[in-house]
Amino acid sequence: MTFDSALLEALRAAHHVVVFTGAGVSAESGIPTFRDCLSGLWERFDAASLATAEAFRADPPLVWGWYEWRRSVVHRAQPNPAHLAIAALADRVPRLTLITQNVDDLHERAGSRDVTHLHGQLEHPRCFKCQREPEALLPVPNEPAAGRRVQPPACAHCGGPLRPGVVWFGESLPINALNHAFQAAEDCELLISVGTSGVVYPAAEIPQVAWRAGATVLHINPSPGPLHGERDFALASTAGLALPALVGATFAKR
Ligand code: APR
Repeated sequence: MTFDSALLEALRAAHHVVVFTGAGVSAESGIPTFRDCLSGLWERFDAASLATAEAFRADPPLVWGWYEWRRSVVHRAQPNPAHLAIAALADRVPRLTLITQNVDDLHERAGSRDVTHLHGQLEHPRCFKCQREPEALLPVPNEPAAGRRVQPPACAHCGGPLRPGVVWFGESLPINALNHAFQAAEDCELLISVGTSGVVYPAAEIPQVAWRAGATVLHINPSPGPLHGERDFALASTAGLALPALVGATFAKR
């Protein structure tokens, strides 16, 4: 795999690198993405209607069962070379900010620290009524049949049903995480956007904020979207191939 020398120089010279990831970074771990027409979860469920507070109110066991199935898929998955390369990159640059749209914990399991989750985390459910998180992490579900109803546990404090700790359509993103992400995008010299379709805002704005602030931006995606022009690069590749190759090509000489 060959890289534009300007891109490698920008990565070598960067004091602050932002890595912004979407579902595509976990695809090679066997976790379906949302819009990939072959494996996308949307194909199996009408996720846009399931991933809402209204759907949960209407049928808590169906929505909770779907997320428990996703949690069981994540639990059986392993970090892939893309997650591992991002964790390794953090040790090669002065400062790295990792921002993800993903609700799995594969970045953490690959060794990344201080991961900013813009859309919440599967492992942190909270009470639908009083918003409290349970005292302990919930046991990993046996693999419920996809789409099987599972009664959500009751909150120990108020008895309300637990809900998944993810941001549903129509809900606001955690404001501290979003502000942190935008500040990092404004400040960085280089942003690597990996495995995202860039269609869900406000998260999709983050690479554009970095580019407008003068940073170099690299998009890693088998089918990358249009580029702005200067300082904007794309690698039409999977994350599992491109990221280890990029880190190796950039820092091999050191
Ligand atoms: N490596 C890199 N990119 C990949 C790979 C791979 N191996 N496989 C697929 N992709 C790309 C696809 O081409 C697609 O552009 O990953 C992208 C996944 O896009 P989406 O499924 O839309 O996922 P994402 O961009 O993270 O969605 C954003 O939308 O549904 C909501 O909350 C959900 O966080 C999610 C948000």
